[in-house]
Amino acid sequence: MKFFADTAEIADIKELAATGLLDGVTTNPSLIMKSGRDFHEVVKEICAVVDGPVSAEVVALDHPTMMKEAEKLRKIADNVCIKVPLTPDGLKTCKALTGDGSMVNVTLCFSANQALLAAKAGATFVSPFVGRHDDNGWDGMELIEAIRLIYDNYDYQTQILVASVRHGIHVLKAAEIGADVMTAPPSVIWGLFKHVLTDKGIESFLADWAKTGQSI
Ligand code: G3P
Repeated sequence: MKFFADTAEIADIKELAATGLLDGVTTNPSLIMKSGRDFHEVVKEICAVVDGPVSAEVVALDHPTMMKEAEKLRKIADNVCIKVPLTPDGLKTCKALTGDGSMVNVTLCFSANQALLAAKAGATFVSPFVGRHDDNGWDGMELIEAIRLIYDNYDYQTQILVASVRHGIHVLKAAEIGADVMTAPPSVIWGLFKHVLTDKGIESFLADWAKTGQSI
């Protein structure tokens, strides 16, 4: 499963990229607002740090303006992935852009039928928001299972990008179901490394090693 960082904080992205485990980045208008940075500048910087897809979202709601915005965004770097909302205009834009060789991430997916539409529109990625689904009394991971089943039934190549990931259980379930990608805040990704027995094990091994008086 590919790991994307869901952030526009360049320092956090650099730190994660240094692990060699980061496959891409997703941003959205809220994350750009939080960063306090110029949208074009920050996307350019992220694209230089990460080789994989970097999602940058259009904000227009109509197809012609989405196309104009996408045109500007895809000029930033070859690894920019245009993010469009799951609306009729968004999917029309998706079809036009992917037909033209651009990567497209269809975002704000909350149902398996919406994911089916995204695949039919040729999306590179579809982003079901599992955390927000959970917040509203649904089971976000059931949504991922349903999308996996449908995509496998028809051999759709659209990659399931599990988004709105809030904790390690979301990551675990996404991997068990066979999602293609998950995007999570850096804190969630760092949390995956942690286990109390790993820390305790290191502590006791180092204490015993010190007693040997040796060095490597
Ligand atoms: O990738 C989508 C993500 O940014 C939304 O996450 O936590 O705001 O629901 P959240």
